[in-house]
Amino acid sequence: MAAQILDGRRIAAEIRSEVAERARVLSRTGVRPGLGVVLVGDDPASHVYVRMKTRACEEAGLHARDITPPADIGQADLLSIVDELNADPEIHGILVQLPLPRHLDEREVTERIDPSKDVDGFHPVNQGRMAQGDPHAFRPATPAGVQELIRRTGVDTSGAHVVIVGRSNIVGMPMSQIMLQKDPGANATVTVAHSRTRDLGAVTRQGEILIVAVGRPEIVRGDMVREGAVVIDVGVNRVEDPSLERGYRLVGDVAFDEAAERASWITPVPGGVGPMTIAMLLRNTVTSAERIGRMATAGAAPAAG
Ligand code: GUN
Repeated sequence: MAAQILDGRRIAAEIRSEVAERARVLSRTGVRPGLGVVLVGDDPASHVYVRMKTRACEEAGLHARDITPPADIGQADLLSIVDELNADPEIHGILVQLPLPRHLDEREVTERIDPSKDVDGFHPVNQGRMAQGDPHAFRPATPAGVQELIRRTGVDTSGAHVVIVGRSNIVGMPMSQIMLQKDPGANATVTVAHSRTRDLGAVTRQGEILIVAVGRPEIVRGDMVREGAVVIDVGVNRVEDPSLERGYRLVGDVAFDEAAERASWITPVPGGVGPMTIAMLLRNTVTSAERIGRMATAGAAPAAG
């Protein structure tokens, strides 16, 4: 079987235009949705990613404020930055790019973000509510984007066996919870595999939908894919390639050409999940601005998430 491409760029553009329309409606009430992005240090891949987020915000009529403290910033100073964004009425969403340098306490920083502005969905209040099936909890952008990609492609997930490879707090763990929900676009039977899973191929071959998020180049080979599976590759890895001027190329966690021979649908890297993550982040930010705007009109503080 030659797989069809799950076109993340096209579907993300659709979502971004929906977000832009909601931002236009909000602008009539004098509210411009604002996203504060904190990027500590100078990791080049993170800077590229954050620039893409900022540009996408501006194109959709949101404003983005980038704060880029040096890699040696102390914990207290970083917490102060989060406090300022929490208190800023022009900021409706806050994102602290992870991972942070090792001397910083990621958990404390994440928990400092006001849950009502936690558009990354990493605060324990939002994670807990999401796990309990609260539809108002902010969902982390990458797994929410994967679900939306599957849903808008018309793939039926109800009762399907979804195999997720990876258990990170950013993707694998929330992905499993999202796919378990009693929601259209979910209702799946979920298996989570990870670095300690024995005979990974035997597990991945059960996946009618296979979602791979481990950050290891091409760890999933063609023979690990079930015939007719929907394959979602969340990985974006730089591998050296001296034949290219920039010295590297991007590959996913899935060996694309091999997997495409067996899959029914497959995401490319780049152009699959990456654009969806950005689109969902914008969508969470505009949702937050709508809620905060409604609360301001009603004269109350917004509820978490
Ligand atoms: N690092 C990799 N993906 C993400 C993300 O979605 N949000 C944040 N804050 N950091 C990340």
